[in-house]
Amino acid sequence: MEEQAARQRMTSHEELEVYELTSPFPPSPPAPLPEPPQPPGSPAPLRVVVTGAAGFIGFHVSKRLLDRGDQVIGLDNLNSYYDVTLKEARLAQLTGRPGFRFAKLDLADREGLARLFAAEKPQRVVHLAAQAGVRYSLENPHAYVVSNLVGFMNILEGCRHGGVEHLVYASSSSVYGANKVSPFSVHHNVDHPVSLYAATKKANELMAHTYSHLYGLPTTGLRFFTVYGPWGRPDMALFIFTRAILAGKPIDVFNYGKMQRDFTYIGDIVEGVVRVLDKVPTPDPAWDAVAADPGTSAAPYRLYNIGNNRPVELLRFIEVLEECLGKKAEKHFLPLQPGDVVSTCADINELMRDVDFRPSTPIEEGIPHFVEWYHSYYGP
Ligand SMILES: NC(=O)c1ccc[n+]([C@@H]2O[C@H](COP(=O)([O-])OP(=O)(O)OC[C@H]3O[C@@H](n4cnc5c(N)ncnc54)[C@H](O)[C@@H]3O)[C@@H](O)[C@H]2O)c1
Repeated sequence: MEEQAARQRMTSHEELEVYELTSPFPPSPPAPLPEPPQPPGSPAPLRVVVTGAAGFIGFHVSKRLLDRGDQVIGLDNLNSYYDVTLKEARLAQLTGRPGFRFAKLDLADREGLARLFAAEKPQRVVHLAAQAGVRYSLENPHAYVVSNLVGFMNILEGCRHGGVEHLVYASSSSVYGANKVSPFSVHHNVDHPVSLYAATKKANELMAHTYSHLYGLPTTGLRFFTVYGPWGRPDMALFIFTRAILAGKPIDVFNYGKMQRDFTYIGDIVEGVVRVLDKVPTPDPAWDAVAADPGTSAAPYRLYNIGNNRPVELLRFIEVLEECLGKKAEKHFLPLQPGDVVSTCADINELMRDVDFRPSTPIEEGIPHFVEWYHSYYGP
């Protein structure tokens, strides 16, 4: 009895209502979620596992799926790579909403993940949980192997055995590594990563292709380009700059400011993810094994860039932030960091062609949204 109670216990994580999938998993699947109300004529709701649901992008994607009436099984291990209270605060926005529940689970927990897939039977998976960050991959490479390689393997196996209709997963613009041809295209070869983070993301694309080929699992990899916006990541430039400028501290500006990034607003990323989720890839009949195009395949496999297609100079980015904060930054100019690239720009032709969408939010609109959120969350 006690064992069964322990297996099926609902735990609270801090203040949050958390459905914790402990090991061993409950022998019988949990009761199905109540159907959220649907406006007449809308498509049938989907049952979607969103990994990294307490993370920046996963939180926004989960919110959007719930808004349109889907059922979301959020997964995250709430690790302490950055401020856990921020992850909990994001999660607090999701818990209690009809159609949402949360599994506190590590991707590397192979049995736990297998049990989650068996019990929840998701139709689609948006896999966003990962050890992110280029610079940290020079400090702690093993974290990337565990979450991004072992974890990805476990997700693929869960999808394969669970008969998932579509796996959408996060890759990264970092895969373009040493490439200099701009804009970066999914048709380019990406065999020259310059960080282990990038190498794990490229490895994910290769692993996904294998499962698309061997088991017919439809997979779509999304190469995100420097995402920013409300509820963003504290290890990324916008967050770090904002905190430092408000505290009157200097900011580190790498490569002496001679950098461009294709900064992409979170709202555009979410729109892209959801549209792609709805478009299950099929084998490309035009794929030619003699002139093998890296962006598509004879298997149900696709890759898309999601970027703004309008790279911005780092110094212009800082200028817009200064205007929003009403305060000048003290700039500390430094050389390029190992693992970093000088410039990124996304070719988004395939995204526009296949899902009729192109990101459009300029930094002059997106940065004020971030600053507004920052003040509301951390105070003036
Ligand atoms: N934010 C960007 O600019 C950007 C750019 C390119 C790619 N990406 C990719 O997009 C995805 C989402 O990024 P994000 O910015 O939301 O990052 P994030 O760190 O905010 O979110 C990732 C979430 O995954 C969770 N997680 C990490 N390892 C886990 C594990 N082993 N088991 C369970 N949960 C785990 C973390 O706790 C975190 O909440 C990542 O795969 C990232 O590599 C992000």
